[in-house]
Amino acid sequence: MIQKPKGTKDILPRDSYKWAYVEEKAKEILENYGFKEIRVPVFENTELFERGVGDTTDVVQKEMYTFLDKGNRSITLRPEGTAGAVRAYIENGMASLPSPIKMWYMMPMYRYENVQKGRYREFRQIGAEIIGTASYKADVELICMADQIIKKFNIPGVTLNINSIGCPVCRKKYQEALKAFIGSNIEKYCDTCKTRFEKNPMRILDCKEKKCKELNQGAPVILDYLCEECSTHFENVKKALEKLGIEYVIDSGIVRGLDYYTKTVFEFVSDTEGYTVLAGGRYDGLVEELGGQKTEAIGFAMGEDRLIDIFEKYNETNDVKMRVPDLYIASIGKLAEEYAQYLALKLRKNGIYVETDICERSMKASLKYADKTGSKFLIVIGEDEVNNKNAKIKNMVTGEEKEVELNIDEIISKLK
Ligand code: HAM
Repeated sequence: MIQKPKGTKDILPRDSYKWAYVEEKAKEILENYGFKEIRVPVFENTELFERGVGDTTDVVQKEMYTFLDKGNRSITLRPEGTAGAVRAYIENGMASLPSPIKMWYMMPMYRYENVQKGRYREFRQIGAEIIGTASYKADVELICMADQIIKKFNIPGVTLNINSIGCPVCRKKYQEALKAFIGSNIEKYCDTCKTRFEKNPMRILDCKEKKCKELNQGAPVILDYLCEECSTHFENVKKALEKLGIEYVIDSGIVRGLDYYTKTVFEFVSDTEGYTVLAGGRYDGLVEELGGQKTEAIGFAMGEDRLIDIFEKYNETNDVKMRVPDLYIASIGKLAEEYAQYLALKLRKNGIYVETDICERSMKASLKYADKTGSKFLIVIGEDEVNNKNAKIKNMVTGEEKEVELNIDEIISKLK
């Protein structure tokens, strides 16, 4: 038997309605904040992620699905959505549109990860990007929206952690201090950290190796090195969040795993599961890095797989149920069979979810099937019912039966 690749999952009909529910609710919120959908290719030129995400990140160094296509081009399955969204923004001249541009996406991403709880090789993100504003107000609006999305799904124990990782100006001074701290012990760090020391020492703070984590204890924190502009920006974000009643914790350890971040970064962490459900931050240099004009931006992505894992654990709400048929029409004899199909077609055109036999089932088997699928009502028709245009409609929950004229309006009124 051929099995699915490691780190992927099948989202079966018995579960997909939960995904649809989450996506629909998230979409409502995103659209209320003015975000419009963008869809970008599943694969891009590898260079986009090397330059956008950063060639010293785990994602680029270890996790990308990269291959040569038949034309010998290096192609990569997108590991995240921001680089593609920014490429599309530049390539399609969106800078000339009224700014800022607000875009959302719901797309699968691909990372060759060590598969474990909440960590998959194909996973889905719901993301949002605001491109074209440097104002702290954009950070606040985006974080509020993320908070609203998370709260919508009644997930207990999610903490918003925020930090500022400054701009290239303050980061230069910070990196010197960090190198001075790490430098004395660099021989004790893992090989990956050693390669990052010169080019991107901040990445060392993100290393998951136990010994590196221990060595990082007591490292200088970026918040002590912020320039005036970055410091004021961060203060403004914090004050505004407090005024709006959005609770947060400052976590000076957040550096984020992707290189494009500047200033505000944030993560919504599930305390019960121990992983991050939604994460993002400012990326004021990325548009320029990818060949556009200097354009400030901020965004986030929510791990939809992780959200659904927690959602399933804590929600058995009544409004999240797989749709069941409003009506099953069972029929006896050729004439009634044809009439059942005709009625079903008409009712479906009127927005009613109707099932009727398409498996040559006996009457007994049909009734059993109607019961199994949880149909709310049942109509049984034979030749007499077709000729008289009259039948009985049964409420499958209460067992109550009523006469119904076999015309569409009558049936619909009885289904209510
Ligand atoms: P990220 O932190 O790499 O950021 O991913 C965002 C979220 O995607 C994570 O917090 C997590 O919930 C989910 N996620 C990441 N990797 C996996 C995985 N292997 N399996 C399951 N879920 C995963 C980004 O991707 C940025 N592009 C976010 C962003 C948008 N920043 C600015 N704009």
